[in-house]
Amino acid sequence: MPETNQDPLSQVINAVQGIYGRKDQAHDLEHALRVRAWGKQIGIQEGADLLIVELAAILHDIGRSGTLSKTHAESGAALAGGILHKCGYPEDTIEAVKAAVLSHSREGYEPETLEARILYDADKLDFVGPMGIARLFVWLGKEGKPFFGPDSCESFYRERIRHYHEHIHTQTARALFEPLFLYSENFWSELEKMRLKKG
Ligand SMILES: [Fe+2]
Ligand SMILES: [Fe+2]
Repeated sequence: MPETNQDPLSQVINAVQGIYGRKDQAHDLEHALRVRAWGKQIGIQEGADLLIVELAAILHDIGRSGTLSKTHAESGAALAGGILHKCGYPEDTIEAVKAAVLSHSREGYEPETLEARILYDADKLDFVGPMGIARLFVWLGKEGKPFFGPDSCESFYRERIRHYHEHIHTQTARALFEPLFLYSENFWSELEKMRLKKG
C-alpha cells in the first residue's frame, strides 16, 4: 500500500514530478496540484470519493506530448494505471482513476462517474480567472500564437474557454466558475480596448 507521509499521495506526486517537468508551464505539476485542490473542494461538497478525485487530478495531464496515435487523455490513463500499480493501489481504485483521466477533456469520452465529472470540472476551473489567463498566454505564447486574430490567444479564449460553462457538470463547480469567468470576460474586454487604442 502507499506510504503514509505527511501527504498520503506524496508517493504518486514524486512519481509524476519528472514527467510534468518536461511539460509546458501551463500543464505542469503546479497545474495538476491546483486541479487537485479544486477537485477536493468540489468533491467534499458533492460527496465524491476524494481519493479517486485527488489521484486522478494529480495524474490527469501526464499523457500530454505522448504518442500521436492517442489523445493525451488516452496516453495519460495508460500511464496513470502503470504508476498506480507500482504504488500498490487496488485494482478498483486504479480503474476508477483511469476512467476519470480518460474523460477529462472533450476528446471522445464522456465522464460517467461523479469523480470523473468532478475532475473534468476542476480542470476547467484552472482555465478561467487570473490563473487561467496566465496559463493561456504562457501556453499559446510558447507555440507562437499572436494575441489577436485567427488562431490566436483571443480566438482560443472565445472559441473554447468561453463555452466551458456549457459543459460544467456539478452545481458546486458552476458556482466557483462564475466569478472567475466574469474576471476573464472583463480582462478580454479591457485588453480589446487597449488594442484599439494602439491604432
Ligand atoms: Fe488535459
Ligand atoms: Fe489539465
